[in-house]
Amino acid sequence: MPETRTRDLPNHVAIIMDGNGRWAKKQGLPRLEGHRRGADAVRRTIEAAYKAGIRCLTLYAFSVENWNRPKDEIDGLMQLLDQFLEQNTSQILKLEARLRVIGRYKELPDNIQERLRKIEAKTARHTKHTLALALNYGSRTELVDAVAALSRDVASGRIDPGAIDYERIRSYLYTGDLPDPDLVIRTSGECRLSNFLLLQSAYAEIHITDVLWPDFSGKHLQAALEDYASRERRYGKTGEQVSLTHIQ
Ligand code: FPP
Repeated sequence: MPETRTRDLPNHVAIIMDGNGRWAKKQGLPRLEGHRRGADAVRRTIEAAYKAGIRCLTLYAFSVENWNRPKDEIDGLMQLLDQFLEQNTSQILKLEARLRVIGRYKELPDNIQERLRKIEAKTARHTKHTLALALNYGSRTELVDAVAALSRDVASGRIDPGAIDYERIRSYLYTGDLPDPDLVIRTSGECRLSNFLLLQSAYAEIHITDVLWPDFSGKHLQAALEDYASRERRYGKTGEQVSLTHIQ
């Protein structure tokens, strides 16, 4: 397989990890086993992404809507996450990645918050890579939280409403210190964004693969990177204008 040229490598890849339940069903296993195997795929993907040279990786691990799942499944997912963090802190440290959490942090179970805060503090100075975990995340709640915080700052006189532009709003999002994703990957063949980084993905390329998340591996990531490298990103310009920018 030809190597993806560095100039065509996305800086930030965000993944909607989908299909754990269907994977389990196909194997005649309980859904939680699909999530367990999904956690193995998370480990593999972090290694593969950083090895490929990706600076920032965001993984959609638990959405605000996921609280509507059966209690057993939610408890199982939280337990898996706790285990994952316990077993993989050394991997994150070794890879010199900074852990960031995006989502409504304070509604997560206390033990998970505590673990996340410790890893975030330990990795805060890492600059080589960023690993953002979207936990209790939803774009609409992110917007609500950003507007509420911005309104408080306007009311207190810290911000002049006339000076509000997108950059200002952006700084209030959970992702305020992260670059926008260049490439969004979704597994399991579903063609939707499911309330994930809706504003941030305004100009992202989207790659949908039929592979179910527990089966996702380095070769599928490589295929997504090659697909990305073949795209022409126009940002509203014409193809001719973009070609000229490449030549100059
Ligand atoms: C979607 O599969 C996946 C999730 C809702 C959660 C993602 C969780 C993991 C990958 C495992 C744990 C995560 C970490 C970070 C350790 P689905 O259940 O919606 O699949 P289905 O659509 O086939 O039912």
